[in-house]
Amino acid sequence: MTECTNGQTSLNTHDETMITKSIKKICCIGAGYVGGPTMAMIASRCKHIQVHVVDINQERINAWNSDELPIYEPGLQQIVSDARGENLTFSTRVEEAIQESDMIFISVNTPTKTFGIGNGRASNLEYVEKCARVIAENSDGHKIVVEKSTLPVRTAEAVQRILISSGKPGATFDVLSNPEFLAEGTAIEDLEDPDRVLIGGDSEQAIQCLVDVYGTWVSREKIITTNLWSSELSKLTANAFLAQRVSSINAISALCEATGANIEEVARAIGTDSRIGPKFLKASVGFGGSCFQKDILNLVYLCEHFGLPEVAEYWYQVVRMNDFQKRRFSTRIVRHMFNTVSDKKIAMLGFAFKKDTNDTRESAAIYVCRDLIQERARVTIYDPKVNLEQIRHDLKTLMANGQGELSAHDRNLIDNNVRIAHSAEEAAQNAHAIALMTEWEEFTKVDFEQIYTSMKKPAFLFDGRNLLDRDMLMDIGFEVHSIGKC
Ligand code: NAD
Ligand code: UGA
Repeated sequence: MTECTNGQTSLNTHDETMITKSIKKICCIGAGYVGGPTMAMIASRCKHIQVHVVDINQERINAWNSDELPIYEPGLQQIVSDARGENLTFSTRVEEAIQESDMIFISVNTPTKTFGIGNGRASNLEYVEKCARVIAENSDGHKIVVEKSTLPVRTAEAVQRILISSGKPGATFDVLSNPEFLAEGTAIEDLEDPDRVLIGGDSEQAIQCLVDVYGTWVSREKIITTNLWSSELSKLTANAFLAQRVSSINAISALCEATGANIEEVARAIGTDSRIGPKFLKASVGFGGSCFQKDILNLVYLCEHFGLPEVAEYWYQVVRMNDFQKRRFSTRIVRHMFNTVSDKKIAMLGFAFKKDTNDTRESAAIYVCRDLIQERARVTIYDPKVNLEQIRHDLKTLMANGQGELSAHDRNLIDNNVRIAHSAEEAAQNAHAIALMTEWEEFTKVDFEQIYTSMKKPAFLFDGRNLLDRDMLMDIGFEVHSIGKC
């Protein structure tokens, strides 16, 4: 490690001239929601580069090699089938892929720690560290290692130390940070035409190698280069700001319900201010997804670690407000339904954390479903892309204690009170209420007149996304409760 003139620690361990100038082989460790689509896009745009995506999960790799991809993402199937067999390979041959590649992306999961120091806040870096070790053990010559996973600021330093201390004699490494900003459901569009690509590093030549990869299809003005720590921190900050906007509008939605203001009118009124802007002002049952909460908790942990408790507390409120919004939604359901949902059927439309994805991680639906079955409701769920096995798994994970154990009572509730339907109509048959959780387009096309006749009366509809035409539903006879509207 060398000391830069600006006082930063330089992480390149070699003479800059040693770097391979043009990247011919890339490998990506982690074939998940980020690794799969990102590498498929690189393979589809850079025909001159061989891309090998590896994972320890054989089942996932089998799915990537089949017509039933492990993740649902509009447009993904097409680019994967076009490139697979040409310059895109999926396998579990982690070591071989590393040995053959010039550039190695680390795109493994970085979940919140559920044990020990930083329990419930810090990132679990176990998988990233294992990647660094396997890269070190399988590298000769020079490799560029790219952090694609979202990581706490200064993780690159730890990665570099592992690479140096465990690497073979003569092996050299550059570490770059290249966080991913794609959103699920629009991943292909986001990768094809990103707002920006961010590359952090301290080796000009290594940065240039990665700039050249993206530069094949992304205009150079959109490729931002920074130092490593700015890049790592920018990713956490971007997610914190986005989540903060959702929590802010959701906080105001509670005030709207109390005062008679309408959250959509308020969002429109403030969103036309060019300094605020219209995006990410959609009030909802609460944000979900694998990253917002995890990344804010990580930011909170970092602030505490660096002795900034006020900053930590400021960001923690974003998560607390989100918890409040989810809980508020289930409480509203119970209150409006005469303070009891016990033995009542509730049709839940949608379980994914947003439309156009099969991802349910941290979905608000899991929390609301938990609350409802704890009130002894019978919940029947229809989601176009989520199956019963996934739903039960999510509920069991949420309801288990710190040791991962589930009480017999909760297991019974999940097994007996949660059902799945194959259409919105089937879910709503004989139901006392509908709770709309995910903004799937197909829910706007459902025949609500027919659904109304098949339901118990009064027929309640709780729209957790403000997706449906409220006036039309009220005309049909539904008692409608939306977010941020009286
Ligand atoms: P994921 O859980 O879908 O995929 C991670 C994959 O890594 C899994 O298939 C797992 O089997 C594999 N893996 C773990 N350890 C491994 C090892 N040692 N060797 C080989 N494979 C290993 O996760 P994801 O959603 O793709 O997220 C990956 C990272 O990207 C996270 O840090 C996340 O914060 C970040 N990110 C995610 C998104 C998103 O939309 N999901 C967007 C931007 C950034
Ligand atoms: C988010 C960011 O948008 C991506 O830039 C980032 O790369 C990614 O996290 C990540 O790091 O994982 P994602 O979680 O896939 O992407 O989806 P978003 O569109 O951001 O939605 C997140 C949650 O907020 C969803 O539950 C969504 O329904 C909710 N949301 C979003 C609202 O409730 N209201 C809004 O106005 C916007």
